[in-house]
Amino acid sequence: MTLNELSSHLSQEFQKVYGRPPAWIAAAPGRVNVIGEHTDYNEGFVFPMAIERYTLMAAAPATGTQVRIRDVQGTHTATIDLSQPLKPAPKGSWHNYPMGVLAGFQALGLSLPGFDAMLHSTVPIGGGLSSSAALEVATATLLELITGRKLDPVEKALLCQKAEHDYAGMPCGIMDQFISVMGRKDHILLLDCRSRETQLVPMSDSSVALLVTNTNVKHELTGGEYAQRRAQCEEAARILGIPSLRHATAETVNGAMPKMSDVVYRRARHIVSEIERTVHAAEGVRASNWPTVGQLMYASHASLKDDYEVSCPELDAVVDIALNIGLKGGVYGCRMTGGGFGGCTVALVDSSRVQAISEQIATAYEKKTGIKPTLFESRPAAGASVIKG
Ligand code: GLA
Repeated sequence: MTLNELSSHLSQEFQKVYGRPPAWIAAAPGRVNVIGEHTDYNEGFVFPMAIERYTLMAAAPATGTQVRIRDVQGTHTATIDLSQPLKPAPKGSWHNYPMGVLAGFQALGLSLPGFDAMLHSTVPIGGGLSSSAALEVATATLLELITGRKLDPVEKALLCQKAEHDYAGMPCGIMDQFISVMGRKDHILLLDCRSRETQLVPMSDSSVALLVTNTNVKHELTGGEYAQRRAQCEEAARILGIPSLRHATAETVNGAMPKMSDVVYRRARHIVSEIERTVHAAEGVRASNWPTVGQLMYASHASLKDDYEVSCPELDAVVDIALNIGLKGGVYGCRMTGGGFGGCTVALVDSSRVQAISEQIATAYEKKTGIKPTLFESRPAAGASVIKG
């Protein structure tokens, strides 16, 4: 469904449930990271694009101090009382994301009125495509409309990241919220997570496409792994005597190898090599050098699998299948995308062969794992937008 179709569906449902039309509608996209994984919290480079999958939030004013939020299906509902100080709900509660953003607006000194809200999302939940950032950024965009206070894009992304840290308890980097705010149609965003400078790299060559494969697995056992990786990177930086691994090189990391445990050494090696690959991949996209970009994607995956250890058999299975199809079959490269331990891969493919490649991947993946994957292609999409308000 297009953004307009999603929005009219949401308006109709809103009217049915709340008995009046929404006054405001905002949308924010999910993302796929082309390359630059786990580099954001090391002040490195990332290279994500927004996808044509969105979270929409519709709202209308209400009397009183309550915010009522629900999804279109009515499976998730929450009431937040603004007359009480906001505090996080138990870990795992979905409304921690919007609540964290409400708290962020309050922290700006803005007084929020009560309102009724409804959300609709086509970003797969827990699929590594930043469904949480899309929800935060959609909420922030809605609150900009409700309060009349337009935030600077960086301030907005950081407010949403803080919501995720403080309310969802996930110590994420800045990539997901930045791309959901700043994505641009037909562009990939090269973000320097140290200076926060951004460059929009055009991706308008229609001879290639980005194909996302959702493995449809999420290894929940690994909840603490992300924070552990962050801590290991911080330890490596401490040993090297630098503020972050952005300041390291392959030589300095190798030189410090005797002072590091094997695990910490390999974590640092991934970060340093991934930052380099990301910069090269952005140059490759600029030059439409697809074979080079593809090779960098495969190398990224190998490093995430072996050195950073955030892949899983299902992600590896998709990458192996892609490698088997190979350049001859129209696949330039493939890698896991997002935090890891399940979720999605992203492949760079010949656009005239998307259909055949999708079928090959789906069949081989199901044969290998017994799980049906979900595949879709997406052009780089625009960031958060106002649909009504
Ligand atoms: C998650 C986090 C991001 C980033 C990626 C890994 O998506 O939210 O900040 O660290 O993992 O690249």
